[in-house]
Amino acid sequence: MRHHISFYVGDTLHHLSDLPPELTLLDWLRDQQGRTGTKEGCNEGDCGACTVLVGRLEQGQLVWRAVNACIHLMWMLDGAQLLTVEDIRGPDGALHPVQQAMVDEHGSQCGFCTPGFVMSMVALSTRANLAELEGTLDGERVINEALAGNLCRCTGYAPIVRAMKKAALYCARNGEPIGARTAEITARLRQLHDGQTVELTSREGRVTLPASANALATAYAADPAAVLVAGGTDVGLWVTKRLRRLPHIIAVRSAQDLHQCGLRPDGALWIGAAVTYSEAMPLLVAHLPAAEDTLRRIGSTQVRNAATVCGNIGNASPIGDGPPIFMAAGAELHLRCAQERRVVPLEDFFLDYGKQDIRPGEFIEGVLVPPLAQGSVCGVYKVSKRFDQDISAVMGAFVLRMGADGTIQDARLAYGGMAGIPRRASGAEAAMRGQPATQATLYAAQAAVKEDFTPLSDMRASAWYRTTVAANLLARLFEPLMPGSPPAAQTLQNWQEVAHG
Ligand SMILES: Cc1cc2nc3c(=O)[nH]c(=O)nc-3n(C[C@H](O)[C@H](O)[C@H](O)COP(=O)(O)OP(=O)(O)OC[C@H]3O[C@@H](n4cnc5c(N)ncnc54)[C@H](O)[C@@H]3O)c2cc1C
Ligand code: FES
Ligand code: FES
Repeated sequence: MRHHISFYVGDTLHHLSDLPPELTLLDWLRDQQGRTGTKEGCNEGDCGACTVLVGRLEQGQLVWRAVNACIHLMWMLDGAQLLTVEDIRGPDGALHPVQQAMVDEHGSQCGFCTPGFVMSMVALSTRANLAELEGTLDGERVINEALAGNLCRCTGYAPIVRAMKKAALYCARNGEPIGARTAEITARLRQLHDGQTVELTSREGRVTLPASANALATAYAADPAAVLVAGGTDVGLWVTKRLRRLPHIIAVRSAQDLHQCGLRPDGALWIGAAVTYSEAMPLLVAHLPAAEDTLRRIGSTQVRNAATVCGNIGNASPIGDGPPIFMAAGAELHLRCAQERRVVPLEDFFLDYGKQDIRPGEFIEGVLVPPLAQGSVCGVYKVSKRFDQDISAVMGAFVLRMGADGTIQDARLAYGGMAGIPRRASGAEAAMRGQPATQATLYAAQAAVKEDFTPLSDMRASAWYRTTVAANLLARLFEPLMPGSPPAAQTLQNWQEVAHG
């Protein structure tokens, strides 16, 4: 067992042992290291002013990920290479191509957001597939996605996007300076990996970084009052916004065997507890193509780089985007307490608001998502006030298993934002089962979904809005199944006629 964490900042190797469990990377950088280039804006993962680059070995390869330092707990850096905005100039002091492009394109006014933008832009510039950016619409999408977690309130985004394109094209043709150091940084990170469990103790508390799922199970069974932290994109806010003390944290992402993500022989997709949304994305999108647009709108690139798929389930939020998707797909959750394992259908895990089917000392080892049956129709829709970086008002994920004769053999309709937990719409499902995909079936299901839920009115949406949207999303699902049907916009009125008698 080791009693310190080791990581690089720039070219300096740090070993730290005396760490308060809740110390954030941002506070450490600014208060203890004087690295004030990294800014504090919102302190909750929303604005991107604190963006830094974390390099890690993923399947042996060095991968750079932009993360929000304000909600990244310091101990998470074990085994990593950190780069802040102070580290990206060349050895001769030359600006990084991204910085030069920001100057050339007038991408900064007050400059407060600028270091965070620059770090997100550098993260994109280090990607191997830069050639795809070359002037295509797809390139715009790649850029917008990379910058969606950074807010600017004075320059405006157009010059920043122009700077990003310019820098990306420059790096695609001439190479990117940090990428040029890949072999050297990979070698130094390999030396940091000793496969040991880490136990940090300080006056303020303790952090356990188990090296394996077995070590995690043992540590958590011994202290079920400890707080499990995976990516910390929820727990980080308990610290920065609710000022909560966390006297014993047990890390999830240090367990190497929980990083597995892949297809099983029967075609089901296994996502281990340590797998982030960014890591799972390629396989998830291939597995559930209809979910792609929603998955790319979970938080921002910085959030998805830290947030785990299983943390999105473990937090049991009624407005989490992952649970309805996995529920509609028929996923099962694999739970473990000490050496005892059990499997529950995901929909049975959520019992009531803030209450899940999980015992003290039990944790999620992974989620198994079965393949969709042949001929299934799948629709996944996230409805939020802003397109990017916003929490859902309503989230609908639907899978219809169609018979050869065009009837709906089975329907799994899962919603978020409609109740205290993510839940299936059992009445609407019953209205569809065994029926042809016709206007009459749609209206019956729309009327039933109104009875399935009694949503709340809150700052995101009124109960009326939520119920109306929940019904209209079914029209969106049915639209391609009913050639010549009226457009979805008209079905709102039709549905209201049905709903209000
Ligand atoms: C700016 C911002 C934007 C966001 N946007 C979205 C969004 O658009 N959609 C969305 O769905 N979510 C969003 N979130 C919420 C959050 O990012 C997700 O819920 C994320 O997937 C949580 O994963 P994590 O690994 O960071 O969890 P953590 O913060 O590490 O943990 C969350 C909870 O799950 C528990 N937990 C973690 N791992 C396990 C495990 N293996 N077993 C049992 N319990 C476990 C923890 O104890 C804790 O209670 C956003 C968050 C931020 C900060
Ligand atoms: S300070 Fe706003 S995302 Fe960190
Ligand atoms: S330059 Fe002022 S907020 Fe972006």
